[in-house]
Amino acid sequence: MSRLDSFIRRMKAQRLLLDAAAERIETLDGPIVDLGLGAGRTYDHLRTRFPAREVFAFDNFVQAAVGYLPDAEHMVIGEIRETLPVSLPRLKARAALVHNDLGSADAVGNNAIAHWLAPAIEAIARPDAIIITSFPLPFAKQVALPLPTGINPGRYHILQLTV
Ligand SMILES: C[S@@+](CC[C@H](N)C(=O)[O-])C[C@H]1O[C@@H](n2cnc3c(N)ncnc32)[C@H](O)[C@@H]1O
Repeated sequence: MSRLDSFIRRMKAQRLLLDAAAERIETLDGPIVDLGLGAGRTYDHLRTRFPAREVFAFDNFVQAAVGYLPDAEHMVIGEIRETLPVSLPRLKARAALVHNDLGSADAVGNNAIAHWLAPAIEAIARPDAIIITSFPLPFAKQVALPLPTGINPGRYHILQLTV
């Protein structure tokens, strides 16, 4: 499969899972956290799909187009390894939904990120938060949730933290 085909399938999987999360977080209070603002596509989908939720975006850089940027309160700029674990006062409540899109096609690099990212997410997420992630994350306790029709296993992941 070409990288373009793979990218398109990844984006379709991401959107299907973000939309599937809507029902799952109905009973979970708390903001949404988007890790990796990038061009702001996912962030824009989240704030459109979840208008009643606060959505916070994290990234080293602000590179999204003007008009699609979070406001200053909802944009956390800096190395996520440092900013995320101490962001709870900024979020004001533990996150109900966390989306991670920090990775790349490099599985070894993703694995290295996963080891510091999982505890950093646990520090700011509800104990029953829904997590959508482009690569596996080693949480202390988690339950894999079923993938909606149309997503091949391993392409994108949805899980719920448990106590
Ligand atoms: C694949 S892009 C995200 C794309 C985004 N979902 C979108 O809709 O455009 C990954 C982003 O994560 C950011 N990133 C990766 N690792 C990071 C880290 N450790 N700290 C802060 N930002 C990071 C990169 O700067 C990049 O903008």
